[in-house]
Amino acid sequence: MGKGSGFGKVILFNEHFVVHGIPSIASAIDLTTDAVVHPWKGEGFTVIDQRAGTAGYSLAKREHQMEAIRRMMAAMGVDTMRHPMEITVGGNLPTFSGIGASAANCVAITRAVSEELGLGLSDERVNEVAYEGEKAYAGNPSGIDNTAATFGGLIRFVRRPSGNVIERLGIGKPVEVVMGNTGVVANTKAVVEGVAQRKQKYPEKYGKVFEEAAELAGQGREALEAQDWKRVGALMDRNHELLQAIDVSGPELDFLVKLAREKGALGAKLTGGGVGGCMVALTPGRKLQGAVASAIENEGFQVLRTKIGVLTG
Ligand code: MEV
Repeated sequence: MGKGSGFGKVILFNEHFVVHGIPSIASAIDLTTDAVVHPWKGEGFTVIDQRAGTAGYSLAKREHQMEAIRRMMAAMGVDTMRHPMEITVGGNLPTFSGIGASAANCVAITRAVSEELGLGLSDERVNEVAYEGEKAYAGNPSGIDNTAATFGGLIRFVRRPSGNVIERLGIGKPVEVVMGNTGVVANTKAVVEGVAQRKQKYPEKYGKVFEEAAELAGQGREALEAQDWKRVGALMDRNHELLQAIDVSGPELDFLVKLAREKGALGAKLTGGGVGGCMVALTPGRKLQGAVASAIENEGFQVLRTKIGVLTG
């Protein structure tokens, strides 16, 4: 039997922009997807998905998940005809869109297969293999999700053809956030492709927005490291506007973002692939976190009360 885990994540600055080389900042959260691999009597591999979360998520992503596993087995040089496997996926990370569920799934499975077959993959190699899997879900992923899922912690990430830049950031102690789930399962691949197409079609408009996003990442980093939460919140608000400008928000996301701000969140924005999926609100302190989380729940949405900057890695 082989076991492995991968962290969930929240992107604080610059999802989508990151695909095109703009710096981004993400934090792992202290919830994981866990995978267990056993030898199997069938042919190839089978997957038992026990994760809970958004209704219909696992079914909607089933084909992506199977393709991801085929890609990862190829990347690891594993022939599942010679080593048939039963892969069980579970853990306490809910399958919300935007929370890094696909990347956590890829990292957990890679680690479990590595343990089962004694491959001894390093974290760096696990990250590379999981990136191959992520392509099945996101088409042209930046690599930020699998990096956060593999290493944990709070990171600044820049996609570079010559090798991604990954820096760990410190913020003293973890800070409370609320993640609200719209319940809408988004097709990340389609959303990522849509941004790329519009960027080509409207170079001037997109050029300006991308420039501001790049500046904002630098300011976000400074504010985080200075633990200036008011400023971090204001920058998250602005980041949401930039994401609206490239058309990756949606009515449910905008509703929850507005609600969180009205209830006192220092800032709020969509997080992850957008369109549906999750938003994140910055809510330092248990009291503010509770007030924002309850307001979202009272509107009938699922929430997660979690923290950024948790020392997960
Ligand atoms: C998804 O969590 C983040 C995106 O920027 C895609 C990616 O970076 O691979 C939308």
